[in-house]
Amino acid sequence: KFDIGDFKRELIREIRERVGNRQVVCGVSGGVDSTVLAVLLHEAGVNMRAIFVDNGLLRKNEAEEVRANFARMNVEIETVDASERFLAALDGESDPEKKRRIIGGLFIDVFWDAVGDAEMLAQGTLYPDVIESASNAKSKASVIKTHHNRVERVLELQAQGKVLEPLAELFKDEVRELGASMGIPHDILWRHPFPGPGLAVRCPGVVTKERLDIIRECDAIFIGNLKKYGWYDKVWQAYAGLIPVKTVGVKGDERSYEWATNLRAIVSEDAMTADWVELPPALLRETSNRILNEVKGINRVLYDISTKPPASIEWE
Ligand code: XMP
Repeated sequence: KFDIGDFKRELIREIRERVGNRQVVCGVSGGVDSTVLAVLLHEAGVNMRAIFVDNGLLRKNEAEEVRANFARMNVEIETVDASERFLAALDGESDPEKKRRIIGGLFIDVFWDAVGDAEMLAQGTLYPDVIESASNAKSKASVIKTHHNRVERVLELQAQGKVLEPLAELFKDEVRELGASMGIPHDILWRHPFPGPGLAVRCPGVVTKERLDIIRECDAIFIGNLKKYGWYDKVWQAYAGLIPVKTVGVKGDERSYEWATNLRAIVSEDAMTADWVELPPALLRETSNRILNEVKGINRVLYDISTKPPASIEWE
């Protein structure tokens, strides 16, 4: 019978054997996979550096929360605050694929600058990622959304046997089980997925600090209410995004002319298809009221009732 404890001990044995006394670098995002990876390396007791890049496209308080979470687990991480570089690089760009390329490319630069001459790189690649990368290589999908884990520098290191992917045989639920067996808290293991390009894919058109701040406020209110009403764990992914179209309204006694926010909450198996969630009206009403009262720059709240396909989960 499969036993997660045995599996973990075997993984740790393999990690120690492959790493020896070299230094391993890994990137952490705060997501499930990279967190389990970092905690696993920490448990293995190898010489590890965990690097967290703040790209300025994170949610409200996210960088602080990631730092606090790792501190809770006694894993030391290095934060690289590159938010201004990302915003500068994105300045004026509104094309979705160009925005993705800018973010992906800069992430690689910033990350590898921080890494320096890595002796080894560890990645939280899962079994489905392995399959996806293999099929991407043959299809146009790789052009549409490039997979971060498979860039040139990584391929180079891989050829030299310097890439460690201890989770590559696991599915997501098994990664969570492994994480739980190492004492990683429930809220970290069951965090909704968050895309690498961050809030930029929820900010159609140009990305500015002002727009990102508005998204952060709306999103924090929405996610807070999902938790308050007990819906966070029932939903696969949820967020608030910006619709940078101004419409007319009334705020106080004055005419307002402001943007709209879209709330999206979906259920999915594997992100390939998704269905929108019938959230309780009370939750939606409270979220809408709070956003309209508290978030400057928004006078309209919309709920996205689009299935995937044809819509995607993110707006870009
Ligand atoms: P879409 O919008 O394609 O999203 O329906 C499917 C899932 O993938 C996430 N997503 C990404 N995750 N890097 C990531 O790590 C990306 O570039 C990226 N684009 C989309 C999205 O949040 C959803 O869960």
